[in-house]
Amino acid sequence: MNKSLLCLLLAVATPTYAAGSAKPKAAPPSPLALSCTGCHQPLVNAKEMPALNMLTPAKIAESLLAARDKPKAGSIMARFVTKMSDAQIASLAAELGSTVRP
Ligand code: HEC
Repeated sequence: MNKSLLCLLLAVATPTYAAGSAKPKAAPPSPLALSCTGCHQPLVNAKEMPALNMLTPAKIAESLLAARDKPKAGSIMARFVTKMSDAQIASLAAELGSTVRP
């Protein structure tokens, strides 16, 4: 197969592949959500630092509100949530928890 034909095939095949593999909810993550998943990685579901897509939105919101309003001493999370509004927390929780499909 010559090179230009291969390029043409790739160009034709790629969008189909991308569309086929995209999940219905695959909207790009918000910048705020990206700041969370740097630490909370999907494959590192540690007890202390769980993968957020293993938690329900309600659980995430509850934890963030607790970290904001009643931070535990030495909490790492508290510093990320001090400036968040209730609405921001709710939308973040919905976004991150929305991929819960254990
Ligand atoms: C610097 C790393 C880091 C970042 C960034 C981070 N977290 Fe955390 N997260 C932790 C650690 C460590 C804990 C364990 C509790 C603690 O130390 O506060 C935790 C705990 C949590 C918990 C509690 C889980 C439970 O079982 O109670 C939730 C929910 C959570 N983080 C959500 C988030 C969200 C949402 C963001 C983005 C705004 C975020 N985290 C950003 C490190 C991080």
